[in-house]
Amino acid sequence: MIKLVTGEEMQLIDSYTIKEIGIPSMVLMERAALGIVDHILKRKHIENEKVFILCGSGNNGGDGLAIGRLLGNKGIRTNIMLLSENYTQETSMQLKILQNLNIKVDKYDADQLKKYISESDLIIDAIFGTGLTREVIGHYKDTIQCVNNEDKFVISVDIPSGICSKSGKVLGVAIKANLTVTFGLNKLGNVLYPGTLYASKTNIVDIGFPKRAYDSRMLKHFTFDENALQKLPKREARSNKGTFGKVLVIAGAINMSGAAFLSAMAAYKIGGGLVNIMTHEENRVIIQTSIPEAIVTTFNTLDNKELDKTCFIEFKSSIKDANVIVIGPGLSQCKATKELLEYVIRHSKVPIIIDADGLNVLSNELSLIKEHQVEIIITPHPGEMSRLLGVSIKEVTENLIENANFISKKYNIICALKDARTIVTNPFDDVYINTSGNNGMATAGAGDVLTGIISGLIAQGLRPYEATCLGVYLHGLSGDKAKERVGVYSMMARDIIEEISKVTN
Ligand code: APR
Repeated sequence: MIKLVTGEEMQLIDSYTIKEIGIPSMVLMERAALGIVDHILKRKHIENEKVFILCGSGNNGGDGLAIGRLLGNKGIRTNIMLLSENYTQETSMQLKILQNLNIKVDKYDADQLKKYISESDLIIDAIFGTGLTREVIGHYKDTIQCVNNEDKFVISVDIPSGICSKSGKVLGVAIKANLTVTFGLNKLGNVLYPGTLYASKTNIVDIGFPKRAYDSRMLKHFTFDENALQKLPKREARSNKGTFGKVLVIAGAINMSGAAFLSAMAAYKIGGGLVNIMTHEENRVIIQTSIPEAIVTTFNTLDNKELDKTCFIEFKSSIKDANVIVIGPGLSQCKATKELLEYVIRHSKVPIIIDADGLNVLSNELSLIKEHQVEIIITPHPGEMSRLLGVSIKEVTENLIENANFISKKYNIICALKDARTIVTNPFDDVYINTSGNNGMATAGAGDVLTGIISGLIAQGLRPYEATCLGVYLHGLSGDKAKERVGVYSMMARDIIEEISKVTN
C-alpha cells in the first residue's frame, strides 16, 4: 500500500518532524535539494548543459536556491531567478548562503526570463510547491506560460507549479513538467487528473522524514503498485471448488446476455470456485453454450416487463448458496430489475455488488439501500453516479473523491467510482486511488469484467473493501497487458479477461 498525501497533510508531517522530532527544516531542505540534484546529474551530457532555476517565495523556492548552489559546486552552468521579494525564513537563509558564496540570483525581469529560458537545456521549476492555495496570476502566470511555450526539459520540484496538491486541479495555469521529483510521500495532485498529465513521470525521494511522522497521522489516501499482487487470496493445496467460493451473477435481460457472460467469465478467471448465472430465460442457450462452466438459472418477464414471480422458488436457493452476489449488468431498466434488486437486498446474507442497470434503477429508488444488512458495493461510472446523486457529470468528474466519499458515508456502502483514475471509498474515509489501466479500456463490457473480478475475489475470502480496491487494480493491470498485446484501439472487454491469468500468475 502506497500512501498519498495532500499538501496540508504533508505540512503536518513536516512540522511534526521539525518541531517534535527536532530535525531542522534546513536539513530537510538540503536533502530535498540533493535528491533533485541526483536526478539532474543523471542526465547524459549535463556537463555541457545550461540549467535555469525558477524560484518562488515559499520553501519550494528555497529548495530551488539550494539546488542552484549545489549545481554551482559541481561546475554546472546555472542561472537562478527569484520571482518574489518576500520569502519564508528558510528561503531567505538559502538566499543569504548564496550571497555569501557570491552566487548571482536574478530578480524577475520578463526579458531576462525569456533569454534564460531560450538559452537553457534544463529548467527547474521551484516556483510553487504544495503551498499553492490561490489562482496563479500576474507575472507568475506569464512565467509559467513562457516555460510551457518553449520545448525544454522541465523538472518540477515536489509538484508542478500551478497544480493543487489536494485535487490535481490546474489553478489557472501550470507547468508542464517532463519529470516531477517529490519528497517523502507522493502528493494527490501528482496522481489525480489533470495534475498527473502535468507531473508526467513522478519519482519519490526519501529526505529522512522518520516513519513515526507518517504513522502519527491518519493518512487515508492510498494507491497500489505491483506489490499489491501479494494480496491475492492464497490457494490452499488441499481444496475443492467450494473452497474458492460461489458467485451469483444476476445479469442479462433479453438480448443482453453479453454482460452476464463477461462478469461470469471474469469471476472464474480471477479464481472464483463456482459461478451461478441468473439470467432471462431467452438467454439460456447462448449462456450455456458460451460458458458451460457456469450453472444457469433463469427468470422470465411478463408482457408488462414485470417479473414472473415463479422464479423466486429457484432464486431463493441460489441466493442462499452464494458467497457474493452481482446484480445489474445488462438487466435493463424495467420493473423486473427493480423487483430483483429489492428481493436481493432484502434476502441476501452476503455482500452485494450493484452495477449498471442495478444502479440506474437505484437512482430512482435510493431508499432501497437505506437500510441494508450486508455490505453493498456500487460500481458507477460518472454518468451513473450523476444520476445517483442528481448532479451533473461535470460535477462528478471534477470532484471524484468528494462525491465517492459522500455516497459511501450517506448510505454506509463501498463505492468504486470508475474513471481514468478510479476511486474506491468506504464509510470510514479510506480512499483508494487507482493508477493502473489505460484508455483502451474505455470499451463496452469493461465494467462487467470489473464486477466479475471483484466478486471472484470476495468469493475467495477477501473482505469487500480490500477486494474492491484490489479488483480495480488487477482490472487495470489486465488492461495494461491487453494494451501490450492488441493495442488501445483494438482492445475489447474479452481481451481484458484473457490477460487476467498473466497478471495473477
Ligand atoms: N500567487 C502568488 N503566490 C502564491 C500563490 C499565488 N497564486 N499561492 C501561494 N502563494 C505563495 C504563498 O503565499 C507562499 O509564500 O507562495 C508560497 C507557497 O509556496 P510553497 O513553496 O509552495 O509553500 P511552502 O509551504 O512554503 O513550501 C512547501 O517546500 O518543503 C518544500 O518543496 C517542498 O512543496 C514543498 C514546499
